[in-house]
Amino acid sequence: MSKQLSRRKFLGMAVTGAAGLVIGNMIDLPSRVQGVVDPTPEPPSNATATNPKTAPDTEPFFGVHQAGIVTPGQQFLNITAFDLISEDRNDVKDLLKTWTKMIARMTAGKPPSDETQNAKFPPLDTGEEVGLSPAKLTITIGFGASLFDKLGLSSKKPKGFGQMPIFHLDALKEPLTHGDIVVQACADDPVVCFHAIRNLSIASSGIAHMRWQHTGQFGTKPEGTPRNLFGFKDGTNNPRLNDDAFMNNNVWLNGKDAPAWLAGGTYMVVRRIQMRIETWDQLSYKTQEDTIGRQKLTGAPMDGINEHDEPNFKNDANGKVTPLDSHIRLSNPRNGEQSERERILRRGYNFMDGLDEVGRMNAGLMFICFNRNFQTQFESIQNRLTNAKQLDLLMKYTQTVGGGYFVVPPGVKNANSFIGEGLFS
Ligand code: HEM
Repeated sequence: MSKQLSRRKFLGMAVTGAAGLVIGNMIDLPSRVQGVVDPTPEPPSNATATNPKTAPDTEPFFGVHQAGIVTPGQQFLNITAFDLISEDRNDVKDLLKTWTKMIARMTAGKPPSDETQNAKFPPLDTGEEVGLSPAKLTITIGFGASLFDKLGLSSKKPKGFGQMPIFHLDALKEPLTHGDIVVQACADDPVVCFHAIRNLSIASSGIAHMRWQHTGQFGTKPEGTPRNLFGFKDGTNNPRLNDDAFMNNNVWLNGKDAPAWLAGGTYMVVRRIQMRIETWDQLSYKTQEDTIGRQKLTGAPMDGINEHDEPNFKNDANGKVTPLDSHIRLSNPRNGEQSERERILRRGYNFMDGLDEVGRMNAGLMFICFNRNFQTQFESIQNRLTNAKQLDLLMKYTQTVGGGYFVVPPGVKNANSFIGEGLFS
């Protein structure tokens, strides 16, 4: 039995005995900390990826796909990678079962545990979220290639799935890179994200520990495309989140291109990209626009008027209007079907983490994207951006220091299942 579960089991046993102290009966706390038995929320019978919301400020947990991928971007991110301490398959299976229950509860605005608090033991809920809205919390779990190797489950690993390679000009720092499990928490409140990760981490005690953690956020904006820290709208030509045809073609795995247990899942790329803010701020307005290949204020293409106008690269073969080495031109050269096949779903956040060791702003983009094939989509784009013969102009002002590749298993369809169940069957 896992160490983590034995702790929970022990707590459970303690409260069934006379010594059990039911905190919720003694003091008047909101129901989310009372510790009264509150079963894991049941999924609606027609659980799908597009379930109607069950409560205000919540996003559905049960569905064909995990939440936090085609969910409209919440304002805040906390993304944390864990490394396994235990390489016992049953421990990891138990952990994923426990996490699934906790995630189903926390995303529904409930405390992480349905057990009864015993005053002799640490709190079952750390408590900093009490009184806060669930803030549309979503939690998305992915597995690194190393997890399959550690658990002796290489036969379950998708063909060709490995660690994130080092791309030209990367400066990866080992403690900020890779990981056995990634947990992406997104919500409209940073404390709600932190609370979720913190409580999942407590539950992983003895089985996994945190390897790296990054936070991110966007400016508060009710609608429209958010801006990155270079001041440009970021996400303009992202696919529409309700474009099911696009998602089936470019994001969701099916039984043909990946092992059957991953159908409904996807591949996730995480890159912590430092942005050289001080250098960028010295650039002329025109150089900034030429670097991105869009107009700064409106987000319109260089040859357009409105944000969503289609850039016309064909009439600009020599790159006079939209430079050939501008970011959008290299990211999406608009070469018909080939470019369409490469398209990815981006879901990144700005990060602002004080100053670095030499006094520069430690700020940038937590680039996160989802795709169906690392090689033919993300890497195809990334290799063009970092091609020494025609480097993306943006590369002069950015540097990737961490991140990783993860496979995201499908969603949990009902309360009898758990995240990553297919890995163990
Ligand atoms: C700090 C690094 C980065 C910054 C500041 C940045 C910024 C931007 C901006 C401002 C746009 C234009 C608006 C839009 O359509 O979203 C854009 C587009 C795009 N970026 Fe990035 N980006 C960064 C890194 C990357 C990376 C690493 C990739 C993938 C390898 C990437 C892929 C794309 C794609 C595919 C588009 C859409 C191009 C189009 O279809 O027009 N970006 N990016």
